[in-house]
Amino acid sequence: MNTTTNDKISILFICLGNICRSPAAHAVMQHLVEKCGCADKYMIDSAGIGNWHVGQLPDKRMREFGRLRGYNVNHHARQFDARRDFELFDKIVVMDEDNYRNITSQAPNKEARNKVVRMTDFFTKHPSATCVPDPYYGDAEDFNLALDLIEDGCEGILNTL
Ligand code: 4NP
Repeated sequence: MNTTTNDKISILFICLGNICRSPAAHAVMQHLVEKCGCADKYMIDSAGIGNWHVGQLPDKRMREFGRLRGYNVNHHARQFDARRDFELFDKIVVMDEDNYRNITSQAPNKEARNKVVRMTDFFTKHPSATCVPDPYYGDAEDFNLALDLIEDGCEGILNTL
């Protein structure tokens, strides 16, 4: 596949705030590539569409529910930067359709737009799920559902890319 960063496969996870879903995906994917001994082949990052939480650690609920599954969810939030990120990343993985519309609308050309994929594209255990729902206003069940879906998607990404 095409790689743009030191011959590594570069993957950027996107959600709205970059404090719940995408930093969790970032941590799960990092965990998987370390577990398979292929971390040196990947560059993984995450970013948000909004700038409300820039510089902050992830939501403490996602940090805690992630920790219970063995993930270190500790990315500091940053905002998606179309000029830089479409250049730098091979794949830009979004969590829902609002994310998809927003990020593709910022793509400078078709090649960049084709880098944007949905997390649902990689699900194998949740074939009827249509997105990774935002757990921010939810409870423990919502955070665990997001993590279940994210684990499914990240395993699919690892098996596909
Ligand atoms: P995320 O969740 O997109 O999964 O990080 C959200 C976090 C914060 C907000 C929205 C979604 N917010 O509006 O502040």
